[in-house]
Amino acid sequence: MASDPSISIESVLQEQRVFEPSPGFVKTSQISSFTRYQEMVDSAKTDPNKFWGEAALKELHWFKSFEKVLDWSNPPFAKWFVGGKTNISFNCLDRHLDGPTADKTALIWEGEPGDQKKYTYRELHSEVCKVANALKSLGITRGDLVALYMPMVPEAAIAMLACARIGAPHSVVFGGFSSEALRDRLVDGNAKAVITADGGFRKDKIISLKTAVDNALSEGSCPSVKSVLVVQRTGEKVQMNAERDVWWHEIIKKQTSECPAEQLDSEDTLFVLYTSGSTGKPKGVVHTTAGYNLWAHLTFKWIFDIRDDDIYWCTADVGWITGHSYIVYGPLSNGATTVMYEGVPRPSNPGAFWDVIQKYKISIFYTAPTAIRAFMKSGREIPDQFDLSSLRLLGTVGEPINPEAWVWYREVIGGSNCPIVDTWWQTETGGVMISPLPGATPTKPGSATLPLPGIDADVVDSNGNSVSTNEGGYLVIKSPWPGMMRTVHKNAKRFRESYWEYLKPVDGNYIYFAGDGARRDEDGYFWVMGRVDDVINVSGHRLGTMEIESALVSHELVSEAAVVGRPDDLKGESIVAFVTLKSGIDPDEGSIDQLRAHVSREIGPIAKPDEIKFTESLPKTRSGKIMRRILRALASGKEISGDTSTLEDKSVLDNLRS
Ligand code: WT7
Repeated sequence: MASDPSISIESVLQEQRVFEPSPGFVKTSQISSFTRYQEMVDSAKTDPNKFWGEAALKELHWFKSFEKVLDWSNPPFAKWFVGGKTNISFNCLDRHLDGPTADKTALIWEGEPGDQKKYTYRELHSEVCKVANALKSLGITRGDLVALYMPMVPEAAIAMLACARIGAPHSVVFGGFSSEALRDRLVDGNAKAVITADGGFRKDKIISLKTAVDNALSEGSCPSVKSVLVVQRTGEKVQMNAERDVWWHEIIKKQTSECPAEQLDSEDTLFVLYTSGSTGKPKGVVHTTAGYNLWAHLTFKWIFDIRDDDIYWCTADVGWITGHSYIVYGPLSNGATTVMYEGVPRPSNPGAFWDVIQKYKISIFYTAPTAIRAFMKSGREIPDQFDLSSLRLLGTVGEPINPEAWVWYREVIGGSNCPIVDTWWQTETGGVMISPLPGATPTKPGSATLPLPGIDADVVDSNGNSVSTNEGGYLVIKSPWPGMMRTVHKNAKRFRESYWEYLKPVDGNYIYFAGDGARRDEDGYFWVMGRVDDVINVSGHRLGTMEIESALVSHELVSEAAVVGRPDDLKGESIVAFVTLKSGIDPDEGSIDQLRAHVSREIGPIAKPDEIKFTESLPKTRSGKIMRRILRALASGKEISGDTSTLEDKSVLDNLRS
């Protein structure tokens, strides 16, 4: 966290463009005017309990209705829909089986070497039931934690729904993590079983998942794990431990396709998902059954304006919260068709995404700014070769999107026709918190726009007081919401301290802060400026790294940029920029001066990088976020300390060092 939270963050990004929702889109959208959005905001504000209570009754199936909407008597520990009984697997499957949705495609899977599978809701229900029965036969019961360490195959979604069905919390560990990272999470979660695969395909390579599981479990390091269920994916030879390991396809054969969904309490844990902070060991973020279900359901419906004939594709991995909420639970709870893709774009197949859009006539596409910048880098010639006319809505998530990347996305991918929803949220929030509603909210490139109905977001100083228009500060949520995380697994103290006690409001109220800086403009729009621990302090001016990066990216030579501070005796910090140039462009003597002058013009001399380093690629986490912590160490010639297990490509480090 920033060392001196009392200094406000200065904002310099100037973005004047506004895009109204297109009349064509508005005509068919469910929330089709800004007035309607404001009415929803007002009714949520006037009587939150009524707003959330009615939504929960309308949108979810209840075995037994709840007695109380919210119990906030022991903040920051919230209980939602107290006394209710429900099941998210039922809400995603069984309740769609009565009508025409039963035979609608629920899941389309596009596998890496050209494999393909489709499941209707009826078929998915029957597969989930079989796996739920298989888990029971392995002795897994309600409350037992099951870890998933899987490639992007349908079995990953099936396993999540099967765990949820029997009340066994799942903990998905991204398949790109090492065996050490897996072991830490298995131990912390006290996992009873692991579901994995022999291997997975990743960027023209095979990764040996089962071997990594064997390593994680070696030498009795995770005694709680009693069974390992193995999906056959690559056909690689793996060692099966007769006492512990079973093949998925063998055990499934013996199961019936009926398994009634367990009647779970609203507050039963649905899943634990580990997220790494910049310091300390990963935190197990706990989400519970009913509130999470409602939030994933409602946000999906509102933001993606889902219609019966949509083919929706989110490119995230199920190992991240985005995959949980917007590949699996949100879409299926709404009876939508969701696409799951095992591949990733790479030099050998740069058009991979556009091929999938053309092939399945994707209408809603949700991806990350890092992907968009990579596509910009290789130019519009590649997407231009594909028919992308099925698209009607585009979304982005994961990082602030630079305005130039936003405009490129709109024009080149969306044919200037599709609204863009820039969705701000976090693992901890369960679902999206700030986003345009595509048929209602005018958008501004680079702004996630306005909070969703019921979300009490604000920008405050370190005393919890709202800052003035266009002044930077901490992005906070001032009232509880159904999808909020409930605690840090086995560490309530850390939950309290990291999220609710960092800022000390004068009135003693609990407000949620999870690390982002932002400002609100004169229309109340939120401009997220990145993590506050990424802020640079130059001669007492706190500059958001995001804004300097956006200025660099708006230059025609630049593809991507990461900006960090380096301790400086005179100025406090000086600005160091790591820049990757567009394909085929080589830096020369003049490039540095050109870029510095450009930033100076765009933002002002105060933001001019003191040093610019050109690099082939930037260090990123496996979910695509730039690891500025590493660049900060490099820039100041320090050893790289802390956890680097989330680094996607370790060779980037060697290149940067040389
Ligand atoms: C952090 C949360 C939310 C799912 C994926 C990442 C950054 C996320 C945006 C956005 C600006 C964004 C924030 C946030 N972030 N979306 N639209 N604009 N920043 O989940 O790994 O928990 O990361 O991602 O810094 O705090 P996560």
